[in-house]
Amino acid sequence: MAKKILILGACGQIGTELTMALREKNGADNVIASDIREGNEKMMSSGPFEILDATNYQAIEDVVMYYEIDEVYLMAAMLSATAEKFPMRAWNLNMNSLFNVLNLAKERKINKIFWPSSIAVFGPNTPKEDTPQHTLMEPSTVYGISKQAGERWCEYYFKKFNVDVRSVRYPGLISWKTQPGGGTTDYAVEIYHKALANNYYTSFLSEDTLLPMMFMDDAIRATISLMETDSNKLTIRSSYNLAAMSFAPKEIAASIVEHIPDFTINYEPDFRQAIADSWPSSIDDSKARADWNWEHKFDLAKTTKAMLENLRSLS
Ligand code: SER
Repeated sequence: MAKKILILGACGQIGTELTMALREKNGADNVIASDIREGNEKMMSSGPFEILDATNYQAIEDVVMYYEIDEVYLMAAMLSATAEKFPMRAWNLNMNSLFNVLNLAKERKINKIFWPSSIAVFGPNTPKEDTPQHTLMEPSTVYGISKQAGERWCEYYFKKFNVDVRSVRYPGLISWKTQPGGGTTDYAVEIYHKALANNYYTSFLSEDTLLPMMFMDDAIRATISLMETDSNKLTIRSSYNLAAMSFAPKEIAASIVEHIPDFTINYEPDFRQAIADSWPSSIDDSKARADWNWEHKFDLAKTTKAMLENLRSLS
């Protein structure tokens, strides 16, 4: 029998593309999308969908039992910038949703979990360049604290209860199908929309703010590939460092100018600058490359080309 997959937070930036990729791969009827609100037309018409609050254990359990779910991808979360404004709501959503799926796996109601962590688990005292897998962390944001705590719980549930939970520390994710919401790396998506609409962008991060980034196609491939790897090959049960490229606002602007010569940018850093300054500028992801053959495909030039071409074709 085909495995059945449940995605919590299917209508967000990652969930939208992950749902479509998993439906393509596993058959649409085997991939149940869920979120607290309905998704776009394609999401709703391409396969099963349930309205589901990721903090409601009973509601998730009901859906898991009804569809006989094997795997859960927990993509619901409050991201870094929004979490600074609503610390308790962020903590409750990010932690309770994780405990819900970990406990379902502990009870053997599901077999496998994907849960995303982030570069936000690192903090101002972390080595900034080529940040190692195992290093001093000390996250200084609400979001980062929730991801760091989540990583500890994932490893604990794996060791103590043999829960098959898998995770990557996503860098900033760049996508054209869905907009991000509430993150610090969102500028790297907004900039393409504004470049096409106005030839102009005001960046909320300073020109030299170097951050690890990844094109969404790579992120989806990484996620599915990690989930398909034999369990005994995985040596990290907290969360794998994952990387593709690093760039600063002035570099993404320069890559846009290659396609839109009269594009201009200016810089008005806001509260998100401090969040970005606390994060690494580049990541050492050699464990992911060694354990499950991770390889990225998109650099900045390819990302810019794909973003501009696809956004143009939408308008
Ligand atoms: N991209 C996320 C954010 O900015 C980090 O995981 O919040």
